[in-house]
Amino acid sequence: MNTNSGRKSVYDSLVIYYFSGTGNALRAAEWLAEKAVEYGMRATLHSIERFEKVTPPEISGNTLIAFCFPTHGFNAAPLMLKYVAKFPRGKSDVLILNTRGGLKFKKIYFPGISGLAQLLPMLFLLLKGYKIKGSLPYDMPSNWVSMHPGLTDSAVKDIADRRKKEIFRFAERLFEKGRAFSYKFFVYMPLDIAVAPITIGYYFCGRYMFAKSFYASADCNDCRLCIERCPTNSLMLVNNRPFWKYTCESCMRCIGICPSKSIQTAHSFIVPMMYLYSLIPVIASVINLLGLENDGGILQDIFIRVVNWVAVFVFLVIGYRIFSFVLKIKFINRFFEFTSLTRFWRRYLAPGIKAGSFKRQ
Ligand SMILES: Cc1cc2nc3c(=O)[nH]c(=O)nc-3n(C[C@H](O)[C@H](O)[C@H](O)COP(=O)(O)O)c2cc1C
Repeated sequence: MNTNSGRKSVYDSLVIYYFSGTGNALRAAEWLAEKAVEYGMRATLHSIERFEKVTPPEISGNTLIAFCFPTHGFNAAPLMLKYVAKFPRGKSDVLILNTRGGLKFKKIYFPGISGLAQLLPMLFLLLKGYKIKGSLPYDMPSNWVSMHPGLTDSAVKDIADRRKKEIFRFAERLFEKGRAFSYKFFVYMPLDIAVAPITIGYYFCGRYMFAKSFYASADCNDCRLCIERCPTNSLMLVNNRPFWKYTCESCMRCIGICPSKSIQTAHSFIVPMMYLYSLIPVIASVINLLGLENDGGILQDIFIRVVNWVAVFVFLVIGYRIFSFVLKIKFINRFFEFTSLTRFWRRYLAPGIKAGSFKRQ
């Protein structure tokens, strides 16, 4: 039992593993650590960016282990899922904190949706012997600026201020009682489970498409900050321009930190590409080629879907190569830039976060 300024914690130490694209999960981890120190606990933060091997937790006395990460496609960010899957077995108490995309319009706050972002890491860790003692789906400002304009400064500040108070109250409960589950975990559970098919679709297909929606406009001055700071090491130089690999998680860091704001989401590339794919009669051709009768059976249905997704993927690979190549031509580059919504939208980094705030493992 630990105590400081009259407050008693059932834990002696807190070990936090975090991954953060644009700083929300990093802020949450820092606030949690700040509260732990107030309780006289020893707090350590481990970034899992570009991890090569798992750093085993240093257990001293009664230790709480926290995992903080963003929600991506109704799931835990894949980098964190991989980390948790490789995490050593243990018996400690665990907290799962997933930051979600919260929004604010006028005076109304809208929550994000976790999907399986809480449930999957919980399952992995339970199977490894850990005890789940805390769950916090945490609605920080949404950073998904490929999908919507970044929030205004005042909306970001209002949401962040609210969340800071929420995490402090939550941490007090968790440290004092050794157990705290946010009501959001239970209230949203039916919805979180209902969106599982989208989670699966995003994990196996959707994320690769989003990874291929980024490009650098003619304003790119080759500073290479995006390449240096990518948490998954997913950018490389091709013809002196950043090129996004399939390991990209679309975490939005590159677009948020780019000093010349030259990184864009190519809406005018990805939307027509999707439309074109839908026109290509891949399914009919495959059925013809294999001499299959369309009998409506479930196995055939699954087979057809798989073929379709593989075809979409192949088109995407070829399409993105061609796209990257033609971007070298200045007027084509400018065309895509001025038809990319991100050219006109605000970008996002969590309050107080800069490119240099992110640490590697
Ligand atoms: C590719 C992508 C997918 C996202 N999917 C979800 C989602 O399914 N549910 C949600 O609530 N927020 C979603 N978001 C919003 C982020 O989870 C949210 O803004 C989070 O707080 C970002 O944390 P970070 O700054 O630590 O990366 C998504 C964001 C991105 C970039």
